[in-house]
Amino acid sequence: MSDMRTTTKSDLYRELHVVIDALSAGESDGVANMANAAAAIWQYLPDLNWAGFYRLVGGELVLGPFQGKPACLRIPIGQGVCGTAAMTRETQIVADVHAFPGHIACDVASRAELVVPIVHAGALAAVLDLDSPTPARFDAEDARGCEAIAALLRDRIGLT
Ligand code: SME
Repeated sequence: MSDMRTTTKSDLYRELHVVIDALSAGESDGVANMANAAAAIWQYLPDLNWAGFYRLVGGELVLGPFQGKPACLRIPIGQGVCGTAAMTRETQIVADVHAFPGHIACDVASRAELVVPIVHAGALAAVLDLDSPTPARFDAEDARGCEAIAALLRDRIGLT
C-alpha cells in the first residue's frame, strides 16, 4: 500500500486501478469482483467512511458489496446522490451532503460524497459510492480515478 506522504493522488489511483484489475481479471463472479474492489478502495483511499456498490435490480438501486457501516438497502432511481447519479448517468461530486436536496443519510458522519454510474452496453448496471466525513473530500481527480475503475469493472460485475 502507498505512503500518502510520498505518493500523489494520481499515483494512488494508478496503483489502485492496477490492483483492482489484477484482483478481478479472469473472475466472472460479479459479487466477488465488487467485494474485492470495495475492499481495495477502502484500503487505498484515505479519509473514507463508506465505499461500495449499489446495483440496479428490478428498477431500483439495491445495496451491494461495501466497506463501512450498514447502509440503506434500497434507493429509488432519482433519489439521493446515488439515485441522481443513476438517473442522470453522470458522476456526482457533492462537497457537503447536507446541502444536497434529498440526500439519504445512512451514516450521520458522512459529509462529502462521490457517486459514479457504471454503465455497460448502454444500460445502467450499478453505481460506485464513496462517502467521507470530511467536507469537500472529493475533487475532479477522484472522479476521474473512480470513473476509470467503473470502466474497468463494467463488464466484470455480472449485471448486464
Ligand atoms: N448517501 C447516499 C446513500 C447511500 S449511503 O451514503 C451508503 C445517497 O444520498 O444516495
